[in-house]
Amino acid sequence: MIRLEGISKSFAGKDGPVPALDGIDLSVARGEIFGIIGSSGAGKSTLVRLINLLERPTGGEVFVAGERVTDAKGERLRELRRSIGMVFQHFNLLSARTVAGNVAYPLELTGRYGKAEIAARVAALLARVGLSEHAHKYPRQLSGGQKQRVGIARALACEPQVLLCDEATSALDPQTTGAVLDLLRQINRDLGVTIVLITHEMDVIRRTCDRVAVLDRGRVVEEGPVTEVFLHPRHAATLRLVREAEPDGGWLDAAAAADLGGRTVRLTFTGPAAHKPILGRIARENAVDYGILAGRVGHIREAPYAQFIVSLAGRDVAGAIAGLRASGVDVELQGGDIPASPARIEERPRHVV
Ligand SMILES: Nc1ncnc2c1ncn2[C@@H]1O[C@H](COP(=O)(O)OP(=O)(O)OP(=O)(O)O)[C@@H](O)[C@H]1O
Ligand SMILES: [Mg+2]
Repeated sequence: MIRLEGISKSFAGKDGPVPALDGIDLSVARGEIFGIIGSSGAGKSTLVRLINLLERPTGGEVFVAGERVTDAKGERLRELRRSIGMVFQHFNLLSARTVAGNVAYPLELTGRYGKAEIAARVAALLARVGLSEHAHKYPRQLSGGQKQRVGIARALACEPQVLLCDEATSALDPQTTGAVLDLLRQINRDLGVTIVLITHEMDVIRRTCDRVAVLDRGRVVEEGPVTEVFLHPRHAATLRLVREAEPDGGWLDAAAAADLGGRTVRLTFTGPAAHKPILGRIARENAVDYGILAGRVGHIREAPYAQFIVSLAGRDVAGAIAGLRASGVDVELQGGDIPASPARIEERPRHVV
């Protein structure tokens, strides 16, 4: 649906060009929710603005729906922008217009629709975002979450194929954030709209996205399915973002370094393995004791996961590790390897810079 090939972007600075993006290759499939995460200044907004050509790349090509649009102009550019809705962190609503007036605005701009048709479309859009009763209010009379629902309805007005959300929930409290993310997922399911979601929060990615790219200083440093990137962060920038989302993020390092005299492993339970009483049985079968050093349990979208760092000691540690793997548990050895079991850590193919 969206393809960025070798994209670079620099801005003019007083001592010459300042690079914001450098060699970005990204592909977003039709109908998916694709997350782009990175800390402040990583280049997220610049990247998303290149997709609807609010910014032009310094180098590289932009494709939308299979068409090269890198230097689209005139009617073609307007058409492209209509097919890509955008949701902003600070809502960007028109304060002099009512809720209905804000949603009607992009439809009026096209000059293609009569009053009755606009009214009908606006009513349907407000129903979709749960704001029918607020149609005649002004933005100042709404909560942040309600304002963002207006922003989403407005972005959907011209029936876009793509929705770009730049920190759409960053100004909202956690509960409202959850409700707005649920709404975005419902829109994705019901309308098949491709969503590109930009955020600096790993929790937003975990709850919402299918795949994610991690942006660090203008480069994609890690990319893959959310489950993979969230549970097995590889780049320092990703690890930092995952750590920020943990109540006691330090454990990711501290537990791995703890030396209890046993074999320290990181166990990841996903899919059917997330619910089965596997660890105790395998420990018994191999006469191994385990100490849980740290862990996290939760959901990635609807799918449950559990991840523990445990220390294994006893008769047949290699046998226990093999048994865990045979039961569908992902086992990563922390520190040195043990001869009897092949380390799988290096085998997982994923694009990493
Ligand atoms: N119009 C501009 N002129 C000059 N430099 C810019 C411009 N827009 C962005 N930059 C620079 O490009 C880099 C990336 O900025 P960008 O806004 O894309 O980051 P971001 O990841 O969205 O950050 P944040 O999380 O704070 O929104 C920064 O160094 C920024 O200063
Ligand atoms: Mg930004």
